[in-house]
Amino acid sequence: MKKEMALITENFLRYGPPDTAGYLEIGGFTGLEKALAGSPEELVRTIEASGLRGRGGAAYPTGKKMRQSAAYEGDTKYLICNADEGEPGTFKDRELLEKDPLGVLEGMVIAAHGVGATQGILYLREEYSHLLGLLEDSLAAMRQDGYLGRGILGGPLDFDITVFVGAGAYICGEGTSLIESIEGKPGRPRNKPPYTKAQGLFMKPTLVSNVETFSGITAIVRHGAEVFTGYGTPMSPGTKLISLCGNVNRPGTYEVPFGTTLEEIVMGIGEGVAGGRALKFVQIGGISGPLLPKEFLKMPLSYEAFEKEGLSIGSGAVLVVDETTDILDFLDAVAAFFKHESCGKCTPCREGNRQIMNILKRMREGVALPSDPENIQRIANTMKYASFCGLGKTAPTALLSAVRYCPEEIFTRRGL
Ligand SMILES: Cc1cc2nc3c(=O)[nH]c(=O)nc-3n(C[C@H](O)[C@H](O)[C@H](O)COP(=O)(O)O)c2cc1C
Ligand code: SF4
Repeated sequence: MKKEMALITENFLRYGPPDTAGYLEIGGFTGLEKALAGSPEELVRTIEASGLRGRGGAAYPTGKKMRQSAAYEGDTKYLICNADEGEPGTFKDRELLEKDPLGVLEGMVIAAHGVGATQGILYLREEYSHLLGLLEDSLAAMRQDGYLGRGILGGPLDFDITVFVGAGAYICGEGTSLIESIEGKPGRPRNKPPYTKAQGLFMKPTLVSNVETFSGITAIVRHGAEVFTGYGTPMSPGTKLISLCGNVNRPGTYEVPFGTTLEEIVMGIGEGVAGGRALKFVQIGGISGPLLPKEFLKMPLSYEAFEKEGLSIGSGAVLVVDETTDILDFLDAVAAFFKHESCGKCTPCREGNRQIMNILKRMREGVALPSDPENIQRIANTMKYASFCGLGKTAPTALLSAVRYCPEEIFTRRGL
């Protein structure tokens, strides 16, 4: 029943970062050598053929993004690795940075070749600043060995990477807020268009991708797109890193092929609910994801299966919640998080989270108004459709999924 594998994570514990010699011994930098031996166009075609989709949450096709990015010209083009990983319950990027920083950085250099980027930035969340030394040492070792800097591996590619440590705000994981914060402004999202591919950091063309996406690029170029597409499903090729957490016996980061069912993840890899208790629901994709009751355990983890239900895999977090949790307490914690993290720029998100908390409080205290069930859904839907950015749009996802899948738990059982 266990379906763990090691493709993106193949280098874990096989070398001691930042040791580039050890990394070379296990096949490190062969992807970069292959990429540099071919044209940027060939590289983009390989990533397109792999079907890789961005692992930061929005699942935008990476090859398509690289092709669009390559089309923009300019004296400076930025490439940013988004290591903000602020989504509660998500910790797979941290593992990649800790256990295989050279694999992540190699993916950034490969991508720079594909899109013609001149400067790289790794945006590290403040809570991961203990990794700064390791990343700086890895960059220094790569520079020393000719994998970064001017004329990489004797070719025409000039590209270097610096690390920027964020100040610890969830909204700064959103691509344009992240860029604003690097520019020294408050972390608030920008209007789109213009898209960052055209006008991003300092209004220069900028590609922003997730840590796991860059690790995926390294693995795909090293082994070939056909090895990657040999795993997963036709619509969701490859593997996904899962952050398994909550009331589960074996929490951790696991790599699974797409198509693995939630049951295989929770009951197989995770060895079931902690303490032998019953499962109440799983929350997929972090705090901005839906709550799925146990009937969903047979559902495969794939973009197509989730999209068919109007759901998203998000960051790939799987939070296991057992029978002892009151769903209203859970939803209150979700709303409190978003109230705290809302940047305040737009009304639906700034006010909506507060209003949801007010109604939840009445419901939890048993003094809900007859209009509260309708109002809470109306506010949640207003946030979903009218918020300015993804934070406000996804803040009510847990609530709306609970209303959809467990109405008796929220309303009926409480006489509403
Ligand atoms: C509120 C919010 C927070 C986000 N946080 C992250 C994050 O921590 N890491 C990340 O890679 N993407 C995050 N994203 C998605 C990014 O905006 C962007 O889509 C992603 O970095 C692109 O990389 P990808 O194509 O590799 O997925 C967030 C989006 C929103 C709306
Ligand atoms: S939805 Fe609006 S208030 Fe909320 S984080 Fe985005 S811009 Fe800021």
